[in-house]
Amino acid sequence: MTAAPRSNTVTLTIDGAEITVPAGTLVVEAARQVGSEVPVFCYHPKLSLAGACRMCQCSIAMAPPPGQPARPPALMTACTTRVSPGMVVDTMSAPAIKARESVIEFLLINHPLDCPVCDAGGECPLQDNSHAWGPKESRFAEDKRLARKGASLSPLVVLDQERCIVCYRCTRFMAEVPGQAELDFHQRGYRSQLRVIEDRPMQSRFQGNIIDLCPCGALTSETYRFRSRPHDLDHADSVCAQCPVGCNLILDSRANEVARVRPRQNEAVNEIWLCDKGRFGQHYASSPDRLRAPIVRQDDGTARMASWPEAIGSAAVALQRVKQQHGPQAIGVIGGRNLTNEDCYALARFASEVLETPNVDHRIGARNRAANPLAAYGLDSFNSEYIDAEHADAIFLIGADVYEEMPVFWLRIRKGITKGAKLLVANPRSTEADRLAFRRLRYLPGQELAVLRAIAAALVEKPPMVEQPAPPPPAEGQEPQPAPPPVPRDLSGLAAALGGLTAEAAAQAANLNIDAVRAAAAALAVAKRPLIYVGSRLTLRSDVDQLAAALVGLAGALGSPKAINFFPEGANARGAEYAGLVPGQGGLSAGEIIAAAAEGTVKALYLVGENVLETHPDRQQAERALANAEVVVVHELFETATTQHAHVVFAATAVPEKDGTMTNAEGRLQRLYRGVIPAEQALADWRILADLSSEMGVALGYAAAVEITRDMLADLPVYAPAAENIPAEGIICRTFGSDAGARAPGATRRRGTVRRPPPAHLLRARRRRDDGASHRGTAGHRACAIRRGERGRRRAFWTGCRAARHAQYRARLRRAQRARQPALS
Ligand code: SF4
Ligand code: SF4
Ligand code: FES
Repeated sequence: MTAAPRSNTVTLTIDGAEITVPAGTLVVEAARQVGSEVPVFCYHPKLSLAGACRMCQCSIAMAPPPGQPARPPALMTACTTRVSPGMVVDTMSAPAIKARESVIEFLLINHPLDCPVCDAGGECPLQDNSHAWGPKESRFAEDKRLARKGASLSPLVVLDQERCIVCYRCTRFMAEVPGQAELDFHQRGYRSQLRVIEDRPMQSRFQGNIIDLCPCGALTSETYRFRSRPHDLDHADSVCAQCPVGCNLILDSRANEVARVRPRQNEAVNEIWLCDKGRFGQHYASSPDRLRAPIVRQDDGTARMASWPEAIGSAAVALQRVKQQHGPQAIGVIGGRNLTNEDCYALARFASEVLETPNVDHRIGARNRAANPLAAYGLDSFNSEYIDAEHADAIFLIGADVYEEMPVFWLRIRKGITKGAKLLVANPRSTEADRLAFRRLRYLPGQELAVLRAIAAALVEKPPMVEQPAPPPPAEGQEPQPAPPPVPRDLSGLAAALGGLTAEAAAQAANLNIDAVRAAAAALAVAKRPLIYVGSRLTLRSDVDQLAAALVGLAGALGSPKAINFFPEGANARGAEYAGLVPGQGGLSAGEIIAAAAEGTVKALYLVGENVLETHPDRQQAERALANAEVVVVHELFETATTQHAHVVFAATAVPEKDGTMTNAEGRLQRLYRGVIPAEQALADWRILADLSSEMGVALGYAAAVEITRDMLADLPVYAPAAENIPAEGIICRTFGSDAGARAPGATRRRGTVRRPPPAHLLRARRRRDDGASHRGTAGHRACAIRRGERGRRRAFWTGCRAARHAQYRARLRRAQRARQPALS
């Protein structure tokens, strides 16, 4: 007798409504689908099941066996019970309500009455559930337990032990998500104490997430503690600009200062997590050390604050002089990797249409001119989506330190490993990934090519086996043919490319153990869904073409030509690449620009958000470049080592102060909205470029970031998928091949290029405006906007009415947030 096929759906009844859900669904999740909210404390959909708090008890009756009478309902926890056919659930039965009341009464016995001073007050599940389900009065007349208050678990996280309800969310998160089990409980029952194992401060890069997970105010943030009430906060949906992952976040601000940062759910990018850099690293926007106004260096070498008209005028005159005396080739433009797409697009247009220089690059220190080393093979530089790492069966990291470079993406790789993927790590130094590596290849620094060749040669020695197509189904009356055995993949092309190089010789060149190389090759050879991630620094090397050829050969040998993914360096490096901030025809890369400036052939440096003295690999060369350049113009947020050498420093706005879009490593275009109003006179980079362009006689023609977004989406083919709409979760935009996607370096716009001299009234206003007044508030600019006859929105922008603009933004943010509430709590 053959067994009946198991259905993969289950039909049950919840609160009188019949529902069909996938088999294995938890009752608590099924109840949400029929609109019944079961209260929870310890349950979280991203963590393992604990059944610790008993808050979710419901009356559940299982279907009786055939022919048996109906079973009476029993109280069961909805967060640990999976649906079964014919199950009847009552989430609001009298016993369930009584049980919840008892749980709350029990939890509150030792919970302090801290609500008026607790950070969580107003957004606390314990507070909400107590109001909804708890008893009206406490019967507890004894003394409450006293425990540690305000104890630091680390410099970032503070524990209030008295408030802890022992739900184990924090301990489960640390053990399961980043795999760093730094927390546990000691003692039992009401004496339970959360502690850091080994009694040392927490070290994890992801510890801030436990603050979000805590269902009461037991865990609070050192940077937010006692600083605001939730209802006093303004909220803005933004994107983290600290690394290329592009995590979605919510900026909570108070009195125009970033008060705290929370994750915004995006299953495709960061799920519901943030790393600590993203969570605690956004407050810089409110720093008192921000540049408040432009700085101009005088003839005697001293620097002083200047008005915007004066600074723009000085930069324009100096750049025009270099362009006329030495030609556009004598100007180098570096920047863009941490800006928004709108800034990048304006910078690319400024470089190509105003300065007319091909020397443009966003890749600081790059010694090659190929922004996408895989373009010649018809590939994007990142050919998978983050989520693919969860489903890979082999993951090969070469020269990459994911934990440092893209922390939240490391969590995705961990997930893949827990699902069975084999991790191979090739790196000259130890990294966090080593702990989970199936094989570690520790090679001599700079020998990545030898590593790739050694693995390729090992694959040639023992090629992967390829399944043969199944034979056609037999005709009637004929015997079915047996499936043909797999055959070794033909790697003759790869063998020819290696030129007879043996695995031993290549392994020796990289100082690798040949057995480790063969084991790594064997693990890759059997993988059906391999993924290769390459560290961002490798894209800057002068031999990146050979590296790309070796990677393409390796991926081809594995039968997955699209397995290769280069990590970008910089939060919006991919957006900068797409916008055209890459060397144009005959142009220099960023490393070459600095070298040429050090030798005196590049006379003017235009640096946007790049402190080259800190980021260029050769500091002495960068110092010579800055000393020898006739003109150095810098956009910056703070005074830096580089601004000390600049002739003009423009005070720019930070990402939390910007509207616009960014493109993350996987090519996902995402919107961001500003959370705080810019510091004093600081201007957005695109605004500075628009004004400077006008001053130099070629108006970019932008008055708002949204105009650039519209222009950019229409102009760049790579953004065609986003032409109609940018969804809340972003949209993947890729360019495959050198001629198929992004803006060609040095190209002028494909439509509607604005090339016109500044209007006469603006020129008159310029002559008047060296009075120190704010650039945005000058009469000339107001007159300019009004004369252009633009509508109310733009007039409001130009007339400099901050309150009106702020109200517009707040209304827009509220609309955006209503549409995008996080689904997890
Ligand atoms: S500290 Fe918070 S998250 Fe951790 S067990 Fe206690 S209540 Fe739960
Ligand atoms: S992983 Fe990167 S993008 Fe995400 S929060 Fe951390 S620094 Fe920000
Ligand atoms: S939420 Fe179900 S037992 Fe805690």
